[in-house]
Amino acid sequence: MQVLKELIIEEINKKGKLTFAEFMQMALYHPKYGYYNSDTERVGRFGDYYTSPTVHRIFGELIAKQLEEMWRILGENAFTVVEMGANGGWLCHDIIRCIKEEYPRFYTNLHYIIVETNPYARKRQQLLLDSVDLRNGMVTWHTYKQDGFSFGKVQGCFLSNEFVDALPVHRLKVKNKILKETYVDYNGANFCETDDEVSEPGLKDYLGTNQIYMREGQAYEVNLGAVEWLRHVSEKLHKGFVVTIDYGDTEDRLLHGNTHEGSLRCYFRHTVNRNYYERLGEQDITAHVDFTNLINAGRFVQLEVAGFIKQSHFLIALGILGRLNNTNNDTVTTLKLKNLLHSEVMGEVFKVLIQYKNIENPQLTSLRPLQSITMSNS
Ligand SMILES: C[S@@+](CC[C@H](N)C(=O)[O-])C[C@H]1O[C@@H](n2cnc3c(N)ncnc32)[C@H](O)[C@@H]1O
Repeated sequence: MQVLKELIIEEINKKGKLTFAEFMQMALYHPKYGYYNSDTERVGRFGDYYTSPTVHRIFGELIAKQLEEMWRILGENAFTVVEMGANGGWLCHDIIRCIKEEYPRFYTNLHYIIVETNPYARKRQQLLLDSVDLRNGMVTWHTYKQDGFSFGKVQGCFLSNEFVDALPVHRLKVKNKILKETYVDYNGANFCETDDEVSEPGLKDYLGTNQIYMREGQAYEVNLGAVEWLRHVSEKLHKGFVVTIDYGDTEDRLLHGNTHEGSLRCYFRHTVNRNYYERLGEQDITAHVDFTNLINAGRFVQLEVAGFIKQSHFLIALGILGRLNNTNNDTVTTLKLKNLLHSEVMGEVFKVLIQYKNIENPQLTSLRPLQSITMSNS
């Protein structure tokens, strides 16, 4: 998009060069022209990529089941779900509808906060939720900005699906044994990349805290926003859980897997590319989530780890196999359920991290060992 390109060039001229995080912030979140701030549908069949809630409603229904257990663990009191980056609203719709139908006692204690920056997404969410006929004031909308959330302390669960991967990242690399940061510059005709000293001490702290040792030539994306976000989450979470679902892995697997070049990618109409400087504001830019960082950053702010598992484990432990083996399923439903589980689609690339605060060693169904599951109790 030409206007966004010119605005980014203007910013480069002002500052000399931009960190990739600054560039990504403008490409995805410029208030008027950013990819995630437009009225265009980004997720699902008519968008650029699928997310689990857009594949099948069972994803939300199984999360609802897990939330109900969390509500019981917390003493069956008022329970707030805070969903980050709800986008089209499919997940909150499926969760709330399921809780209303299946868990009426939980429903009367439920308050749902949606945190979403895109003003058009909020309208879509409202439209979807209208079909559920909600209790008055049960769902409210709030913001998350640099200084934190726009609501007070809650007891319940912070939930996100593919929120963290959408936060801007810095790009680091080791060149001639020296740590460098990759910046975005403009040469008069095109955007170009240039390596220089790291832009802020927080980046070196990140590598130190997480004990990251990069090899010569290796690139790595650092998501400082995720660390800040967890700090703000813990500030607001009086007691409860944080469920983070996203694609990514632990640091050792990200560093020693086949991502020597880093995991940064663009998505456009269900295809992947690495042309970060093309289709500005019209394609997604995203990097794998470093879950070791979320685990370490969480511990620093009193969020303990209940479990870190693959999405397939999470869904199987909560009972998806019973649904998959339902003989009344049509072929399309069976295929969709398999996509959520399959190792090469969403089942293994996506992970679930569950953290908790101010609770005594919680036992959650989604984390139970899969050996304990037989077809009859799935
Ligand atoms: C990849 S999409 C999420 C997809 C959705 N959760 C799903 O499962 O289909 C990322 C979302 O996070 C939102 N987002 C990014 N930064 C945000 C912030 N600071 N506060 C609230 N929402 C934010 C974006 O607008 C976008 O809708």
